Amino acid sequence: MKLGTPLSDTAVRVMLLGSGELGKEVAIELQRLGVEVIAVDRYPNAPAMQVAHRSHVIPMTDPHVLNGVILAEAPHIIVPEIEAIATEVLADIEAAGMAVVIPTARAVQLTMNREGIRRLAAEELGLPTSPYAFAGSAEELAAGAETVGYPAFVKPVMSSSGKGQSFVESPDEIADAWTYAQDSGRVAGARVIVEGRIDFDFEITLLTVRARAADGSTETSFCAPIGHRQVKGDYVESWQPQAMTPAALAASQDIAGKVTDALGGLGVFGVELFVKGDQVWFSEVSPRPHDTGLVTLASQTMSEFALHARAILGLPVDVTLREPAASAVIYGGMEAQGVAFEGVAEALSVPTADLRLFGKPEAFDRRRMGVATARGADVDQARERAREAAGCVKVVRG
Ligand SMILES: Nc1ncnc2c1ncn2[C@@H]1O[C@H](COP(=O)(O)OP(=O)(O)OP(=O)(O)O)[C@@H](O)[C@H]1O
Ligand SMILES: [Mg+2]
Repeated sequence: MKLGTPLSDTAVRVMLLGSGELGKEVAIELQRLGVEVIAVDRYPNAPAMQVAHRSHVIPMTDPHVLNGVILAEAPHIIVPEIEAIATEVLADIEAAGMAVVIPTARAVQLTMNREGIRRLAAEELGLPTSPYAFAGSAEELAAGAETVGYPAFVKPVMSSSGKGQSFVESPDEIADAWTYAQDSGRVAGARVIVEGRIDFDFEITLLTVRARAADGSTETSFCAPIGHRQVKGDYVESWQPQAMTPAALAASQDIAGKVTDALGGLGVFGVELFVKGDQVWFSEVSPRPHDTGLVTLASQTMSEFALHARAILGLPVDVTLREPAASAVIYGGMEAQGVAFEGVAEALSVPTADLRLFGKPEAFDRRRMGVATARGADVDQARERAREAAGCVKVVRG
């Protein structure tokens, strides 16, 4: 693909479907290569819209409206950044050869639904996963929980960031878990997955990049493993590299290689894995940069966002780790519009610390509003610094 001049006939146009903080960083990387960026989301002034050439505010789950925007903008490349998209439109656009969908329309469809990706990973590829069952009613859920065993996690098949998830320890909790999943999932009446708990030592994201090699073939590279800590299904802290045994690293790369090969296409994938000693289980995969990968802004020669931009344009990538680093999330802690941030100077006085403030127009209690990163001699020092820097930042009413 020849790169051109934005806003001219030679422009390479990339449309982001979803314009959050991850899309914002991808947009910045694309801008640096002179790519014309069109940001789309369901609310105005979303982070990536603020650094794009143009933006559109539409309900992305409405196939008719989504199709209209794609036809009007005629992007060369479509980059889904979130899962709540009318993906059948993407399949049609791809089949008609009108745009390249990253990584592929099928990958986007399979991974937006826990049932699709779990059946692919466990049943087709034979990868190790937690025991699981799917259910379409509270009765089926109760039966499924018996087969996978307690304690277990119940999750809507269509949800992310921990929404609608419950941890259940006994049959008494099944009815509530079912109701909670129905109330918070993306679609009403939706199915759930119940997964037996894996008693892991730690969990990682293995960023896996599919990029074009010099001979035109697709080459897979792995970033150093990212460790992270989750609270209520949402990440609060991540670090890179996560120490692990050579056998566990080999198993992780083997699983990530197999699942990303099966999904195909070009770009960054966030492969989520559970690790205990030498043993590794596949959990899930995002066919896009991963939130825990924000740490790569500080740790790698090329961040996961630069890697994604390069890979989707068919350009070479470099996954070298530069230095141990960590990221710590800054939450809204309140509901307010147009918030302000205090303590930024203090945060940036922490050695090696840096901040991303996402510019989200509205804060919620558990909404990620920014992130602090820091480097260190080792991950412990980096984590301490990132936590300290994040802790300095106070979200206040404007
Ligand atoms: N079967 C399991 N065994 C042990 N822990 C689990 C299991 N399933 C989920 N968890 C814990 O809950 C977290 C969130 O689960 P999962 O990644 O499936 O949800 P999610 O909503 O897709 O979250 P996100 O969008 O943040 O990745 C995991 O990172 C892990 O800490
Ligand atoms: Mg996850």
